[in-house]
Amino acid sequence: MTFLRALATAFIAVSAALALVPISHTPSGLPIYEAPSGSRVLQNGTDMVVYAPNGTRLHVFENVVGARTSTPTGTGPLRVRQTETVGQVFTTFGANDTLQAFNGTFVVPSAPATFDSQLMYLSQGVTTLDDNGVPASFLGAALQYGGSSIQGGSFYTGFAFIEWLPNGGYLSVTLTGSTGQLNVSDTVGISITYQGIDSFPGEAPYYLYNVAFTGPDADRFAQMEVGQQVLPTVVGFRAEEEGVSGPSDYPSGPLVFKDIQMQLTNGVPENVEWEVEGAAATGIGFEVVNGGSGDVEIKFVFPDDS
Ligand SMILES: *[C@@H]1O[C@H](CO)[C@@H](O)[C@H](O)[C@H]1NC(C)=O
Ligand SMILES: *[C@@H]1O[C@H](CO)[C@@H](O)[C@H](O)[C@H]1NC(C)=O
Ligand SMILES: *[C@@H]1O[C@H](CO)[C@@H](O)[C@H](O)[C@H]1NC(C)=O
Ligand SMILES: *[C@@H]1O[C@H](CO)[C@@H](O)[C@H](O)[C@H]1NC(C)=O
Ligand SMILES: *[C@@H]1O[C@H](CO)[C@@H](O)[C@H](O)[C@H]1NC(C)=O
Repeated sequence: MTFLRALATAFIAVSAALALVPISHTPSGLPIYEAPSGSRVLQNGTDMVVYAPNGTRLHVFENVVGARTSTPTGTGPLRVRQTETVGQVFTTFGANDTLQAFNGTFVVPSAPATFDSQLMYLSQGVTTLDDNGVPASFLGAALQYGGSSIQGGSFYTGFAFIEWLPNGGYLSVTLTGSTGQLNVSDTVGISITYQGIDSFPGEAPYYLYNVAFTGPDADRFAQMEVGQQVLPTVVGFRAEEEGVSGPSDYPSGPLVFKDIQMQLTNGVPENVEWEVEGAAATGIGFEVVNGGSGDVEIKFVFPDDS
């Protein structure tokens, strides 16, 4: 802790945005930080404080929350080429709705025919917005293809994370002793569930959400809790890709999210409309096979399957 605090202090001088050294980077240079499975990431004012499962304070991400309303001076060293491409299918709830659960399952599709150091996060999760309605964070779990130096390679893995948008990087959790490998045709569940309200003394309350993989292999995957002072108002499915150079770099079968359970604290949401965004930027087709809030099915169609 002393070591990490010292590091944090050293880095504040350089970057007000993120105080710790990233463990890895995506191909375009987005930092990926790592914490042990079971960690809690809690908002305290404009900071996000990371606690290990045993309560030890591991990291403080300084001024990552609310930074959107000011000029991004603190992001100097972390400014990256924006070559990451994002597409998503999502729905938005009312500002006063509290998401209770957002669960779903998918079957791991056939692997890409070629491995070109591409990195893909195909995820399910929840987004918070800032005061201006601009996406501020995405908390979720992904089917990852490709590798960072934390994990992965020319195979699939499971990746649970929070991402600071648009390009503040990722904080992921990892489980000691597990590669997190996923094999083609494995059935995998993802769950984002509300854990209640808590707060630091004298600070505004935060809303705590757990993100985890579920199903028979859940024990092999990392999970974490994140408490932010705003409720997530957007839920959906997201594809983030980097370094994709042709159709054969994509999975060679579609990825279908189904068994989707969406619940607010006061019941199942009504009049749910799914929207698609960013499809043109990626090579992926985003299909709402079944909309609404019951029996929802969302399909990612990759160029090679057509
Ligand atoms: C929360 O933030 C306040 C104000 O910056 C600070 O005084 C306090 O020590 C922080 N608490 C924790 C637990 O980080
Ligand atoms: C608490 O967990 C952290 C992170 O896993 C570890 O570095 C530290 O040694 C642990 N502390 C105690 C007292 O077990
Ligand atoms: C949300 O709740 C607040 C306080 O109860 C109320 O003033 C506001 O109108 C509500 N907003 C919506 C969109 O329902
Ligand atoms: C995935 O495949 C690897 C290599 O064939 C194997 O060792 C591992 O047990 C498989 N994992 C599961 C969950 O089936
Ligand atoms: C969502 O998944 C969690 C974890 O498996 C479970 O506890 C919860 O009951 C599920 N909620 C719904 C609405 O399916």
